[in-house]
Amino acid sequence: KRKIRIGLLGFGIVGQGVWKNIERNREALEYRLGAELVISDIMVKDLARKREVEVSESLLTTDAARVVDNPEIDIVCELMGGTKEALDLTRRALERGKIVVSANKALICEHGEELFRIARENGAHYFFEASVAGGIPIIKTIREALVANRFSLIYGILNGTSNYILTRMEREGISFEETLVDARRLGYVEADEALDLDGIDAAHKTVILTYLAHGKWVKLEDIICEGIRKITTDDIEIAGQLGFKIKLLAVIKRDFEANQLSVRLHPALIAKKEVIAGVDGVYNGVSVTGDVVGTTFLIGRGAGQDATSSSVISDISDAVFMLRGAPPQAISKEDEELYAQLAEGLELS
Ligand code: HSE
Repeated sequence: KRKIRIGLLGFGIVGQGVWKNIERNREALEYRLGAELVISDIMVKDLARKREVEVSESLLTTDAARVVDNPEIDIVCELMGGTKEALDLTRRALERGKIVVSANKALICEHGEELFRIARENGAHYFFEASVAGGIPIIKTIREALVANRFSLIYGILNGTSNYILTRMEREGISFEETLVDARRLGYVEADEALDLDGIDAAHKTVILTYLAHGKWVKLEDIICEGIRKITTDDIEIAGQLGFKIKLLAVIKRDFEANQLSVRLHPALIAKKEVIAGVDGVYNGVSVTGDVVGTTFLIGRGAGQDATSSSVISDISDAVFMLRGAPPQAISKEDEELYAQLAEGLELS
């Protein structure tokens, strides 16, 4: 079985989630991938920091070169966040022809065009399923599953923190500030909280979806972007009495006849009977309307350690198949025997 070496840039909430969840489902994962996954080098800022996941000290380094310049590393996962050092290191890894997996929506929104070009020019690859809507496979849905379509309308809830706050304000009548404390504790909130609270995080994701659906990079400053800071419990209550909920909504609308694109992100009144009105808490929901398929709606956890690492591992999986030069699920006889072991004693009920 081929050994795939993975290097992590950053070992915070998402990095530790990737480690934990690879361990959790290692057997099934290695069967599905037909490869052994080894996280061999992890770049951190502070070696001494206490972490939830304890790993051997020999894996940790403060030297990014051990990950990005290391010829033995097959896949670099950039899970450090921010747009300065992350940009330099992503550029460097792509210039070395590496496969880079990223959850960094701000970086892709601001520098995606350049990073995709660098990847192309160097035979590298850049995967970023975890950058939009946490555990919902929206990138692969638009790029792969719905490739047959032209998209007239995509709308959705793309920020888990805002949706969590609005939901608790609505259900419990408690203030914005109080719910924010819990959202922080649950690991939903960005290090720079303004990104969540001013709608910028959701706007970053909207820009990425716009590019994927329409091939156009729009600038953040060119779209309407308003977060949930000004929403009060009174607003939510009055909306409720009139039959509406307030949701932070991203809308990407294309008029093919006029060849016009409208992209915006702001709190919106949604009639309670709409599917998206029922997307509460940390959940995200995305509705995609294509000319061939009609409307598809995806709902799932939009933030948090497990949901986000689920998407990172899905990109690692794509990278593994690319490295193996095999289509997904191309499994060996040995792998099949392993999977049969997983089903030992399993009865149909
Ligand atoms: N802070 C982000 C959110 C994390 O709340 O949606 C997931 O991208």
